[in-house]
Amino acid sequence: MTADLTAPLFQPLTARGMTIPNRTVMAPMGRGFANDHVPHPDAAAYYRRRAEGGVGLIVTEATGVDHPLSADTAGTPVMHGAEALAAWKTVVDDVHRVGGLIVPQLFHQGMLHGGGNPTKPMDSMRPSGVIGTPGPTSFAPEFIERAKIPTKPMTEEEIADVIAAYARSVRNSVSIGFDGIELHGAHGYMIDGFLWGESNLRTDHWGGDIAQRATFAREVVKAARAEMPADMPLIFRFSQHKSSNYDARTTETPQELEAMLGPIIDAGVDILHTSIRRFWQPAYEGSDLNLAGWAKKLTGLPVIAVGSVGLGFTASDTFMKVGTEDTDYNVARMMDRFNEGEFDMIAIGRSLISDPAYVNKLRTGETPTRFSRDSLATLV
Ligand SMILES: Cc1cc2nc3c(=O)[nH]c(=O)nc-3n(C[C@H](O)[C@H](O)[C@H](O)COP(=O)(O)O)c2cc1C
Repeated sequence: MTADLTAPLFQPLTARGMTIPNRTVMAPMGRGFANDHVPHPDAAAYYRRRAEGGVGLIVTEATGVDHPLSADTAGTPVMHGAEALAAWKTVVDDVHRVGGLIVPQLFHQGMLHGGGNPTKPMDSMRPSGVIGTPGPTSFAPEFIERAKIPTKPMTEEEIADVIAAYARSVRNSVSIGFDGIELHGAHGYMIDGFLWGESNLRTDHWGGDIAQRATFAREVVKAARAEMPADMPLIFRFSQHKSSNYDARTTETPQELEAMLGPIIDAGVDILHTSIRRFWQPAYEGSDLNLAGWAKKLTGLPVIAVGSVGLGFTASDTFMKVGTEDTDYNVARMMDRFNEGEFDMIAIGRSLISDPAYVNKLRTGETPTRFSRDSLATLV
């Protein structure tokens, strides 16, 4: 039954010069296995197995751009330096060898630098020196207490340096053969720190209303696009929630979302990737549409949704170690929404951590290996 049910997912989608063979995406997931910021030797086989397992497009774990404060823990990889680039090239080549497609998710931790490693000095780069209101989070309480102490706002020079760092890491990614680029504009990291009104209080041209707060994102997209071949797609990921506050919201209305996305898309985005904790979560009052649905309706671009496919608990529950670890046979509900055109692609996170063949099993109806927090301990 599942095989028929999910058949519509197995149609290609083309964005610029890239044809993705089906509508499934491996969600970006930091696994913490890098050695001194260099991808682990097993990373190539880890990603290759997901390509062999039928994933249409792999998005890598968040990977630091070429800036000293982009990634706080040694287990987070970066996209610069001979060693890290050689390791990434092995990953790309391995995925390509089995016919897969892979894009890196590039990020700078911005105001949340130190969250993964609270012993680091609080030298994070913040748009306005503040991190906004903290809320439910898996960050250590010591980190949040220290992070609440304001630092200095980023200077013009620091902002220019960070944008240039994104550009260099995009160039590096292109040079080793990645198929596209995803910019991490979600979860309160650098780009999202500018988007969110609580962390961007600037009164210069980097701050203001939601469209003006999108200026930094727009400049990063522009700089990235300038380093990319014309046929290579650029994906922009964004969210309402922050790693420092899962209840936070960047936009309160579809009008604000439209105002935010307009300048970012105009700078050269091809696919939007909304980070949602449950794919059925309505984005705004008065409508059942999720954030991906709104993004699609307002912009017409292809959108990727995500959030608890096959699972009865969210990624934030996993991180905060709360709730049960239930399976939820919600694939039929996800397919209903996909078939109604709410979103164009579905990203799968945790279910792919425990089972590299999850997508092939969606196709055939086989029962996948169940995810549990223990699955995070190894690179299966
Ligand atoms: C272990 C783990 C690491 C994650 N790391 C990232 C990341 O590096 N970048 C990102 O944008 N999202 C990250 N996420 C969020 C996922 O991309 C995804 O949106 C989330 O897990 C919801 O999908 P799921 O319910 O299918 O797991 C991570 C999630 C998990 C579970």
